[in-house]
Amino acid sequence: MTDSALLATLRSEARDAPESGIVEVFNYGRGRPGLIPLWVGEGDLPTPGFISEAANRSLADGETFYTYQRGVPELREALARYHMRTFGRAFSPDRFFATIGGMGAIQIAVRMAAGAGDEVIVPTPAWPNLAASVGVGGARPREVAMRFGNAGWTLDLDELFAAAGPRTKALFLNSPCNPTGWTATREELQAILAFARKRGLWIIADEVYHRFSYGAPRSPSFYDVAEDDDRIFYVNTFSKNWAMTGWRIGWLSSPPALGQVIENLVQYSSSGVAAFMQRAATVALDEGEAFIAEQLARARAGRDIVCRGLGATGRVRFSEPAGAFYLFFAVDGPSPSGSSTRPMSASRRAHPSGKRARGSSAFATCARPTRSRRRRRGWPAGWAASRPPARRSPCWRQASRCAGFPHPARAAAGRDGSTPWSAPWRAGRRAGRRGTVSA
Ligand SMILES: Cc1ncc(COP(=O)(O)O)c(C=O)c1O
Repeated sequence: MTDSALLATLRSEARDAPESGIVEVFNYGRGRPGLIPLWVGEGDLPTPGFISEAANRSLADGETFYTYQRGVPELREALARYHMRTFGRAFSPDRFFATIGGMGAIQIAVRMAAGAGDEVIVPTPAWPNLAASVGVGGARPREVAMRFGNAGWTLDLDELFAAAGPRTKALFLNSPCNPTGWTATREELQAILAFARKRGLWIIADEVYHRFSYGAPRSPSFYDVAEDDDRIFYVNTFSKNWAMTGWRIGWLSSPPALGQVIENLVQYSSSGVAAFMQRAATVALDEGEAFIAEQLARARAGRDIVCRGLGATGRVRFSEPAGAFYLFFAVDGPSPSGSSTRPMSASRRAHPSGKRARGSSAFATCARPTRSRRRRRGWPAGWAASRPPARRSPCWRQASRCAGFPHPARAAAGRDGSTPWSAPWRAGRRAGRRGTVSA
């Protein structure tokens, strides 16, 4: 059987899952000498020793067996304590479930909320995994473009609500947002919750950057406005706050009534998170506040360096992010090669010392359409990089539309690079290259 015949036998949602642009850049740069890694959303500090030591102790104690599907009781109790400290009210440990990173929490939430024939609303620009996880689950992501203007990035709630149709089952809200840093206000959360209640929708609240907030100790949360039994899945992770990206542990929070369903979904997917990781996570929650403060200070200093540096060029358009640790920006003017307007492909995490930068995701590469789309739109042959273009998730393409990513022929001719779909950038003419920078 040929490779393509073999592929044709697969379930289409799996076969057609988009290649991740982030992973593409990661694979391209990994191990290349002299290259500063700027591709994935993580800082440059390793996991603190007191967290790793808890994992070591657990392994030494022989905790190497199957464990609780919902999470060990001690972790779920620590999560309740952490939420009580952070949000100032009581939480039941029964609403927390250990997952394989924040991504595992998203997967489980999507599987519960939407399936074949359903739609999930996703505001964009967005981390592409959100829409892709909906597609892999058999549902359809319905994108709503955010706007960029003098007030920075904004989400038009009327447009968001208008996107909800008869098939809509859920809406994603990632605040603070990767990659724009946009952070919903309490009033916006209240309005979205009221709409979701009225329409019977689930909200998938991705609040993984809730501690990376530059104007307040934390960003506004649905926890501030919702009841415990509201239809909200909260996605969170140990990856960012506690520098544990490589560990792959996060948590899902939902009304406790869903406990058995979630336990079943965990059993039939990962069958649980390793006990030693859960022990480390428990210590992170109980003893990690000083480390989070250090992380936030570094991110704030990095944000200032990046904003100052890019602002000084006079050619870069961006708004100072209110949260998360990215900067999403557009560079005016033609590309150095003259013929190509290939977007910038890296995000950067500036080292507070100013000596070096270290990175995160590569949103801009999404702006490269597939070969057939380029042909249909009459883009010049040879525009593509030497490697064949990867398929992109709808969100990546949406990100490029939001950016007003220019048609190369028009850009080369020195004409306006904005496109008909570039609502947020209508005011900004001659958009050039595009990238994200983590602060
Ligand atoms: C918005 C958002 N949600 C979820 C995640 C997933 O986190 P994890 O690495 O723990 O799976 C990320 C990671 O970059 C993210 O940016």
